[in-house]
Amino acid sequence: MNKLSAPRGTFDILPEQAAKRAHVDRVAAELLEGAGYGRIETPSFEATEVFSRGVGEATDIVQKEMYSFHDDGGRSLTLRPEGTAPVCRAYVEHGMHKLPLPVRLYYLSSFFRAERPQAGRYRQFWQLGIEALGSDEPEVDAETIVLLATILRRLGVAAVRLRLSSLGSPDVRAAYREDLGNYLREHAGRLAPAVRERIELNPLRAFDSSDPVTRQVMAGAPVLLERLGGEDAAHFAEVRGLLERAGVVYEIDPTLVRGLDYYTRTLFEFTSDALGAQSGVGGGGRYDGLVEQLGGVPTPGIGWAAGIERILMAAGEMPIEVRPPDVYLAFEGSPSNAFETLTSAREAGLAAQMELAGRSLKGQQKQAERLGARYFAVVEGDRVRLRDLRAGTEETVARAALVDRLVAV
Ligand code: HAM
Repeated sequence: MNKLSAPRGTFDILPEQAAKRAHVDRVAAELLEGAGYGRIETPSFEATEVFSRGVGEATDIVQKEMYSFHDDGGRSLTLRPEGTAPVCRAYVEHGMHKLPLPVRLYYLSSFFRAERPQAGRYRQFWQLGIEALGSDEPEVDAETIVLLATILRRLGVAAVRLRLSSLGSPDVRAAYREDLGNYLREHAGRLAPAVRERIELNPLRAFDSSDPVTRQVMAGAPVLLERLGGEDAAHFAEVRGLLERAGVVYEIDPTLVRGLDYYTRTLFEFTSDALGAQSGVGGGGRYDGLVEQLGGVPTPGIGWAAGIERILMAAGEMPIEVRPPDVYLAFEGSPSNAFETLTSAREAGLAAQMELAGRSLKGQQKQAERLGARYFAVVEGDRVRLRDLRAGTEETVARAALVDRLVAV
């Protein structure tokens, strides 16, 4: 028979990895909940329209990376490639604009993109993300960025850099797109074919090209950041000032491009030099038109998402919090007394395990030591030989008194 394995670009999360992820979850939840963020989880799939309208028809994600399928009713559904559009869909659906603003939400969920797998790039991956809806104050931009910087620092993510830019308002961006398109058409002969083909669809992606000649051309291209109008420029200046006061180091990168169409104004990306080609640890930006685009009342928003696998790759050692057993129940012969004691020990809140593999008494003690158990309790009828593995002492107690004796420790 063929050996079965996880689909290409996916992976199993085994207990040791799960423990590291639980640590990320705890660190993030503690900071974010303290900052007023509430957890949200949306379905793993949505109406395809949520993404085609939300993320944008011209993006790589919508064009070629979505896992879409039809349900029984012939409706097109898509495994979520990202979380912002679904959260905004939920915000509209549940009338969250009536809540005190800004509404702050966070998620830690898995997402799906049909990308070519490589180190740090998967077809099912996990993101920690936050979205703050209902305020366009620059303080919210700065707050979200500082939160991600703090999480990455607390998790020990190495060699982090923050790149920052602003896309301005949609009208400025539209005019700029025209000019950039003209510039690219003028230099079409020197552009990489993939860039040339996308001049009409998504000219901004030309800044992302790794082709050396294309990069030369792009060095002379018009720059959006230099064209921001008064309010956009003032907003960006305030965000920068707030980040400086918070001690967050950043680089302005006018060529910063992100693969989603909903962004307006502030745009940012955290990278780690400890990662290879897929160096983006997390990124996000403001999306002041998205809620309206999805059928809600005009509502500004900003957020980010960070890739859990990339965080783990760049973070090095991570504390794994496993609770060793308080007691390991051993026996020879019938297991029923040990089993009864196991159940009452757990009822009393103890971390208890019992022998389930038919080991010899000696083997059972070895196993208890391997697990880091505090007590090794050999159940012999109504008596228990209780060995304190830390102190190396032994006493005999009545089985009925064992749990109380251990709870008192
Ligand atoms: P994104 O830049 O597409 O943004 O993804 C955010 C992060 O998810 C990336 O920086 C990367 O760490 C991780 N990531 C993305 N694709 C993959 C993949 N195929 N394999 C492993 N990790 C991956 C968004 O998704 C936006 N929704 C972020 C946002 C929230 N903007 C505003 N609010």
